[in-house]
Amino acid sequence: MKIHELNFLHLFHVSAVLVLVAYTFFAFAGPAETRKRVLMITGIASVLVLLTGVRMWQGVFAFQASAWIFIKLGCWLGLSALTGLAYRKREQANTLMIVALVLAITALAMVYLKPFTS
Ligand code: HEM
Repeated sequence: MKIHELNFLHLFHVSAVLVLVAYTFFAFAGPAETRKRVLMITGIASVLVLLTGVRMWQGVFAFQASAWIFIKLGCWLGLSALTGLAYRKREQANTLMIVALVLAITALAMVYLKPFTS
């Protein structure tokens, strides 16, 4: 993979993660009429995170099945599911916000520490 493509993938990946996390937190407090727009934005961001992540997994790691990738996939799935829940479970907003933070920070830890790799 060319270095320019990798740089762009990193940039798009992290930008999409920012959008996903930012709008997920908005979803915990935003008025009900924003639901459709916010779900659309987080949906697009979520797909972008996955596509850029999978392309880097292919290009940099040749789809090597490392545990940290699967943990990241789990964090991504959880975070993506939270936005819809955030509008419906307002009474659990505090707990769900902590869950969102733990998922995002775990995904970060996986990429920088890459545990469980030989
Ligand atoms: C909420 C979920 C996620 C967060 C917060 C996240 C965050 C990050 C961050 C901060 C980086 C480092 C970028 C850099 O150092 O320039 C990264 C890289 C990467 N991410 Fe994600 N990511 C997430 C989801 C995913 C998913 C779902 C996949 C794969 C299917 C994935 C695969 C990768 C790969 C392969 C890299 C490159 C690692 C490297 O070059 O060493 N990420 N991610």
